[in-house]
Amino acid sequence: MKKVKAFMMLLLFQLVVSCGGPLVEVSESDPNPPTTVPGPTPGPTPGPSDERINYEEAVGIMSTYCAQCHANSPWMDNEVAFRESSVGAQVKNRNMPPSYANEEMPDDIRKLFLTYPF
Ligand code: HEC
Repeated sequence: MKKVKAFMMLLLFQLVVSCGGPLVEVSESDPNPPTTVPGPTPGPTPGPSDERINYEEAVGIMSTYCAQCHANSPWMDNEVAFRESSVGAQVKNRNMPPSYANEEMPDDIRKLFLTYPF
């Protein structure tokens, strides 16, 4: 009889342990996803990416206003060359495109073009 009682106690102990195990895991993994997921997602994503153009968009503008004379310039098809060039400065101080260009660059396009993070 003593042996059976001990066995029952062991069973009961195991039951408590195995029930306690997963309960702790659930409460540990629960608070983690909600705090990490909504945090960075809504904040920085819509703001700056909407205001700044990327290199492809800059090339699109340049194909209209610069390619007439700069079709072979390295910064027309290479982003590193583009960033290292004086394109940003030339457009900002209105040296480029020159007044004799076929396409005059409107102010809003110039403004948009200069949102590229040179
Ligand atoms: C009608 C022709 C013409 C157009 C259009 C034109 N450029 Fe130029 N560009 C020139 C000439 C000519 C030079 C070289 C003489 C000088 O520096 O003024 C030059 C020089 C440059 C330079 C310095 C040299 C270099 O390649 O690094 C940059 C940068 C430049 N242009 C950017 C632009 C950009 C950006 C546009 C369009 C927004 C543009 N240009 C449109 C004629 C043009």
